[in-house]
Amino acid sequence: MCGIVGYVGKRNALPILLEGLKRLEYRGYDSAGVALLQDGKIQINKCAGKVSQLEDLTKDLHATATVGMGHTRWATHGVPNDINAHPHCDCNNNIALIHNGVIENYATLKKKLESLGHVFKSSTDTEVLVHLIEEFSRWNKDLDLAVRGALKEVTGTYGIIVADTLNPDTLIIARKGSPLVIGYGDEEIVIASDASALVQHTRKVAYLEDGEVAVVNGHDVTVKTLSDVEITKVIEELTFDLEQIEKGGFPHFMLKEIHEQSETIQNSMRGRLLEEDGNVKLGGLSEIAEKVIRAPRLILAACGTSWHAALIGEYMLEQYAGISVEVEYASEFRYRNPILNKSDVVILISQSGETADTLAALREAKAQGATAVGICNVVGSSIARESDGGVYIHAGPEIGVASTKAFTSQLTVLALLTILIARSKGMPRDKGMELVKELAMLPEKVKKILSDTKQIENIANEFKDKKNFLYLGRGYNFPSALEGALKLKEISYIHAEGYPAAEMKHGPIALIDENMPVVFIAPKDSTYDKVISNIQEVKARSGKVIAIVNEEEDAICKLADYMITVPKTLDLFTPILTVIPLQLLAYYIAVARGCDVDQPRNLAKSVTVE
Ligand code: G6P
Repeated sequence: MCGIVGYVGKRNALPILLEGLKRLEYRGYDSAGVALLQDGKIQINKCAGKVSQLEDLTKDLHATATVGMGHTRWATHGVPNDINAHPHCDCNNNIALIHNGVIENYATLKKKLESLGHVFKSSTDTEVLVHLIEEFSRWNKDLDLAVRGALKEVTGTYGIIVADTLNPDTLIIARKGSPLVIGYGDEEIVIASDASALVQHTRKVAYLEDGEVAVVNGHDVTVKTLSDVEITKVIEELTFDLEQIEKGGFPHFMLKEIHEQSETIQNSMRGRLLEEDGNVKLGGLSEIAEKVIRAPRLILAACGTSWHAALIGEYMLEQYAGISVEVEYASEFRYRNPILNKSDVVILISQSGETADTLAALREAKAQGATAVGICNVVGSSIARESDGGVYIHAGPEIGVASTKAFTSQLTVLALLTILIARSKGMPRDKGMELVKELAMLPEKVKKILSDTKQIENIANEFKDKKNFLYLGRGYNFPSALEGALKLKEISYIHAEGYPAAEMKHGPIALIDENMPVVFIAPKDSTYDKVISNIQEVKARSGKVIAIVNEEEDAICKLADYMITVPKTLDLFTPILTVIPLQLLAYYIAVARGCDVDQPRNLAKSVTVE
């Protein structure tokens, strides 16, 4: 994780770096720092805390440097404090470096460097790299040669920016496993972990690939491989604008993103529904469509909220497309020697397209000869680029650390994929038409849920001081229960568990008393009657029931303490609607508890470490 930004140009670098860091804060926010190249020296300012603290620290600097770099950290090695904050310097403060990733062999390298006389100040893995570059620069006055020499000794992942006093107009950048985007402006270059930090300066970008090192000055970027082969980069145009990454009048990004869902679900389907044929088209799969359709099994691998989407995808694909599906935590998949066949298709689901474990699962799948399909949000992200084919969810930039709109768009795309495979495997046209028609109606139904959120806010205020929550659902809404519990944990720090409703009697029922709120996800689907029995079991033990139900409800209103209604839809689409009150409940509880909703403690949006 961590966010990095660099600037080489003619303007004052500091405000550009600070602004960029604020946009990248979703990647980590426990400490921050900047390095400015000024008057033949590297001037470093860094501190524990958020970018706003760095802003305070630098407000009286009167900096005029036109070259610099900045970092916002999510700690892996070394506690978040002033010393461990990046940038880190070599022994003589002539070379500075910022890093996103993990240097896995740092302990061995550190020992070696200490024996050569290097003195370390921090307890980070990163500092090893800058001392290693210092060591290589004894023989190579060209900084890029020293950087390339050092990187050959390193195992692990990195996105780095390096500066030195001998080349004050130049930054060196390199990537392995952690993303870096180069923005080409007017006589200036901005580098960042993600395009949101540079879109206000330029729309022309190129993505650095693994194993590439670039020398950046204000006019020019020269990209080479680690082994010195020159590369010509393709310059692409960004497809989003500044407005999409601002709060637009909402107090938090999370609330804005929850409210965008009618539109974002629509965007996920746009141009893809063939209503007359009862089918869909997914252009990004056209070259591998046969492989996907004929695959004996699909493996869906993901992390966090995306993993919950995968679980729902499994239910959809098995029920409608009649295809065997396995869902894997990407982090487990990668390390447990999975057995794959060349005809298997592995679908990687990732909002950011950069999650290290999901990317590693993709590479494992490809190494074993399977076909890899990416379902990503961030255009041009690593997973999107390395997949054999894929489908963008088109939810637009998601900034709130707790994922919301990406989840409902992932579900929409999984529904599209289900229809595509099901139709090619013999699902009748009229059944396809029914699904497509209902999908097309979802944005209106989402709008209806979002038109009045006062009741959810009231319930949140009622329950904000509870210590535990249980979320229960069955069938398609068991994963919704997991997602509801995850949202609450992430942003309000209340312990919450999601469980299949029927499994409650095998353990969690022991926790139920008058202090235990139980959120039931109970739309009128095929498991409805069974869920009513589970609600009765909770009520018999004095639990407090909050039920997410359909509008035309009669049985549950006699049992539940609180009810939140959502419009009716087909079983497979119900999680797209039921999750919205769950997102809002978590949001309003977190706000009522005074939590930092968009930047919850210890979390980061894009987890680029394993
Ligand atoms: C982090 C985020 C979650 C996200 C997960 C997977 O944990 O905080 O919101 O669901 O990573 O991220 P991805 O970008 O791969 O969907």
